[in-house]
Amino acid sequence: MLHRSADFDKVRLMREDWIQPILDEARSLGLERTARAYPEVGGKITVDGNTVLNFSSNDYLDLAHHRHVMDRAREALDLYGVGSTSSRLVAGTLPIHEELEARLAQEKGYPAALVFGSGYMANAGTIPVLAGRDDLVFADKLVHASMIDACKLSGAKLVRFAHNDVQSLKQRLEQHADAPGRKLVITESVFSMDGDIAPLAEIAALAEKHSAMLMVDEAHASGTFGPHGAGLIREYGLEKSVTVSMGTMSKAFAGYGGFVACSENLRSLMVNSARAFIYTTAPPPAVIGAALGIMDVLEASPRLGSILQANADYFRSLLHAAGLDTLQSQSQIIPVVIGDNNKAVAISQKLRGEGIIAAAIRPPTVPAGSARLRLSVTLAHHVDDLEHAAKAIVSAMKK
Ligand SMILES: Cc1ncc(COP(=O)(O)O)c(C=O)c1O
Repeated sequence: MLHRSADFDKVRLMREDWIQPILDEARSLGLERTARAYPEVGGKITVDGNTVLNFSSNDYLDLAHHRHVMDRAREALDLYGVGSTSSRLVAGTLPIHEELEARLAQEKGYPAALVFGSGYMANAGTIPVLAGRDDLVFADKLVHASMIDACKLSGAKLVRFAHNDVQSLKQRLEQHADAPGRKLVITESVFSMDGDIAPLAEIAALAEKHSAMLMVDEAHASGTFGPHGAGLIREYGLEKSVTVSMGTMSKAFAGYGGFVACSENLRSLMVNSARAFIYTTAPPPAVIGAALGIMDVLEASPRLGSILQANADYFRSLLHAAGLDTLQSQSQIIPVVIGDNNKAVAISQKLRGEGIIAAAIRPPTVPAGSARLRLSVTLAHHVDDLEHAAKAIVSAMKK
């Protein structure tokens, strides 16, 4: 029987007395984070009987409730049960894992693909395979935390270059031209917090010139750019220059999971040595079924991404016309930079009171002094929703 005496609580509190000051400090800096529950997911949801426009959902193509996607998830659930019940290399690989990998490889234009439990795990698993203690990783200053954590895990020396700055990357590569070991350049195609797009062709040319591998995180470009949503590597025809194309099933795919597309050999090496692939249970059947359903939808409706981008362009133009700073955003992700942490939270809360969810994103997710509203346009937002939201955001910002 669990015995909770006053003494037990006193001892526990003594051992945890370092926690409260950390929480207090975060609160005093306007940096405290809490996970608030919403009753629904998607770009337009009902909260307490009211319609709320949600600009903080990554369900970019409004497919989380798509009938066909849910049917395919249900079919997989009915056929295989709730879990894969084993890791991929033991007995957890099902025919649908293989089917999804074959389709992802084909869509992305690569010989092979490998599915991971999440996008975070895809990065955490792949980078330490590509680079180790004797190697160098050149990372854009704004790459996602999962890529940075993966670099730390790899033990490679990390060299940062200025965001989307080809000259800065060139300098770094030249500075380390004689370094022994492998070289790896990492970037995102659509950046998760700024919504801008990397100059991929120039980065690929530089990587090639310096015999460096190139890995591109397409978490926010998968489904939203390129033919059938195959992403920007495919759109620009860079499959042969980009060593690894990484993506997630958690954004436009509206589900969960991550993947990489690459050569057959690299896939085999990852199967043998990517710890985030080997030492974890295979993704559950319903999640894989849903991803297959999304791929069916993207194949049948290849224009979803371009409609989304046209709507995002319109929304951005409304915010620009009112003088708001949306950085270099060129995608469905539109930042509205505020700067001060507490002000960003206050504006987000004011908008929430008006039926608009626009989460305040603060450091360390974004650089200090650049707290912002991160707005995601989705296909659930119609033109009148975008016009209404732009008006409310502009008015909240001006106050
Ligand atoms: C650029 C980028 N890479 C990777 C991830 C991790 O993906 P996931 O949420 O599937 O773990 C995210 C999202 O959180 C992301 O924005």
